Parts: sequence; C-alpha cells; structure tokens
Amino acid sequence: MKNNFKLIATAAMGLESIVANEVKALGYTNVEVENGKVIYETDSLGLVRSNLWLRTADRVKLVVGEFQATSYDQLFEQTKALEWEKYIPEDGEFPVSGKSHKSKLFSVPDCQSIVKKAVVERLKQKHGIASWLQETGSLYKIEVALLKDKVTLTLDTSGAGLHKRGYRIDQGDAPLKETLAAALVQLTNWTPDKPFYDLFCGSGTIPIEAALIGQNIAPGFNREFAFESWDFIASKLHDQALEEAEDLANYDQPLDIVGTDLSHKMIEVSSANAIEAGLGDLIKWKQMQATDFHTKAEGGYIVSNPPYGERLGDKKEVEEMYHQLGKVLQNYPSWNVYILTANEKFENIFGKKATKKRKLFNGFIKTDYYQYFGSKY
Ligand SMILES: C[S@@+](CC[C@H](N)C(=O)[O-])C[C@H]1O[C@@H](n2cnc3c(N)ncnc32)[C@H](O)[C@@H]1O
Repeated sequence: MKNNFKLIATAAMGLESIVANEVKALGYTNVEVENGKVIYETDSLGLVRSNLWLRTADRVKLVVGEFQATSYDQLFEQTKALEWEKYIPEDGEFPVSGKSHKSKLFSVPDCQSIVKKAVVERLKQKHGIASWLQETGSLYKIEVALLKDKVTLTLDTSGAGLHKRGYRIDQGDAPLKETLAAALVQLTNWTPDKPFYDLFCGSGTIPIEAALIGQNIAPGFNREFAFESWDFIASKLHDQALEEAEDLANYDQPLDIVGTDLSHKMIEVSSANAIEAGLGDLIKWKQMQATDFHTKAEGGYIVSNPPYGERLGDKKEVEEMYHQLGKVLQNYPSWNVYILTANEKFENIFGKKATKKRKLFNGFIKTDYYQYFGSKY
C-alpha cells in the first residue's frame, strides 16, 4: 500500500531554509516553509528517509488532520472525525501534548484533554472496545497545535529529537546541538577535499558533523525512531532505507578534519565521541591554544563556536583571545573563517568586517554567524 503523508520537519528558528534544502535534496519538491517548520508530502519510505537523513531538523511529525476551531465542541468533533484507527492500534499509548498561539482556545491543558477524549472515543468505536483502553503498546505521541485558530494534529515519528545521533557519550559545559553544528557546516562552501578545522572543538560536535557530511553518512544511522514500532510503517522500509544509506555512504572519501581545544579533557571527549560515531581516527584531535594555529595548507575552512565570554569576569579574557586570533588568522588570507558567537562587537575585536553575517539561535542565546570568505589563491 502506498500511503501519502503530509509531514512537518520542525526547525530551530533561523534554520528553516536549511532544513527545506535538505528536504528538497531528498527529492521532495513540493515544500512549504513556515516559521519553525518545513511542510511537505511523501510516502512511508519518505517518512523513514526523512528521519534517517535530515541533519538540521529537530523532528519529523506526521499530520493527522488540520481544521479551524474556536470552540471546544468543534475541537472535539473534528478531532473525533479523523481516522486515528489507521495509525493507533488497540493497545497504542497516546499521550497528548499541546501548544496554542494567538487562538481563541488558549488553554493548552483543556485542548489536550479534549483531544485525548475525542481520540479515545474514536478508537473505542472503531476498534470495537467497550471498556478502558489499556495503552500498553507502542508509543504514538500526539500534539495539538493551535495557531490563529487553526488546529494541527500530529504524531511524532522521530521519538528522541533528531539531534540525538547516538554518538555523544560525554560533553563539555556548552555543547552545540548536533543539528546546529550540521547547519554551520552546511552554511559554508566547504567540500570534503578541503582542510577543515574547529579551533574550539569542545566535545567535537562540529568536526564530527563535518565528517558525517564529508562521507555522506546518514546522521540517524545509529539510533532508533518512534516509527519503528508502528504497524503502518512496514519494518522492511527501515531496513531498505538503512541499506540505501550504507550504499550511499562514501567511506573512501579522504578527509582532512582537525579538532583542537585548550582542554585536554575535551580532546579526550571528542575522540571518544568520534569513535562512538563510527569514525574511528578519521578526525585528528589535538590539545592546542586556538591562537597557536598554523598551517601550510591553502584555502581551508575554520568553523568554530568559541566561548562567548558571557560569565562575569570572562568577557575581557575572551575578547583579548578573539583579538589575538584575528591577528593570527590575518596570516592566512586564503582560509575561510566561520565564527558563531553572541559577542555583538566581534568584528571590531577580531579586526575585520565579515563578508556575511547570519542571525542564529544557539538554544536561547541570540548569536551571529560571522563568515569570512578566503581570497583565491
Ligand atoms: C562553547 S565551547 C565549544 C563547544 C563545542 N562546539 C561542542 O559542541 O562541544 C568552547 C570551547 O573552547 C575551548 N576554549 C576556550 N578558550 C580557548 C582557547 N583560547 N583556545 C582553544 N580552545 C579554547 C573550551 O575549552 C571549550 O571547549
């Protein structure tokens, strides 16, 4: 059976267009972009592939229904009219979460309990159950989202957020989300034949994501997803997508990726995470002061998320380090430098105006991605 699904790939603020490009690269062309989400249609295999391959999306949700509602009656009746039994079996567990923005039905707990009741009634009727639904089986997380009185009911197909690739066994104080790290790499023009450095690698997220991109390794290859326990997604499709991913991976692609950090401990953590990611010793890790950077190579890429100096007392020290780094990197005009920081005076301190700047959120922290293009060499 060929199912057609409407999917929503959720995206952190500012990353929507990058997620949309990834969705298009998977071959799904009818793509709509809204705040925080990318909407497209695909089949069951597309749902599986999306989870396996999207590097910058937070999760993939399946749209069960959409309608307008300004009263609880409307919410109840229209939720009950949807074909929940196509998705949720007799013993399925289906908690309901919710959010409401600029809508008449603003009480999220009330919306959640109305939706829960409507789905319970529908399933009891359709599965022919008179008593209590046991909810002892697989998990189907429902979300009721209201925006300007439009209700969108979805099932979360991902389970743990897609940033959980399964390789992070340890981390530092301020690790970058894997999805954002992948976006930082994708926002550069780096190609796998070029040197790639992260001079503040922490737990190694940026170099690891770069290596996965460089060898075209599916980011979700080593993890589980909610859809795996769902009957309406044939398990052979996941196997098929994994086989495809194995074929598409380019393990022979040589890479020159280096992660360095001041902290010995973080270098150990990075190395352990890279091994967990299945990358072995593909990435070179080195304890080093960022300002000691030196190379004979031309046209490389530095992509880094240095400390922002936000803690009291740290700011001056961090700014001095930015200044020194700016001086050191002046010696490498052919290199492309990409720095994510919350420091609004970065360009002044670093001593150079960025070729391009892009606003991004690192969690709740407002940051800018300063992009310096290298000269031709
Ligand atoms: C914001 S964290 C980077 C987090 C990293 N992107 C991750 O995902 O784990 C900044 C890192 O810079 C390192 N660091 C601070 N000052 C440094 C310096 N002068 N040279 C090199 N590394 C430094 C810290 O040890 C820390 O690991």
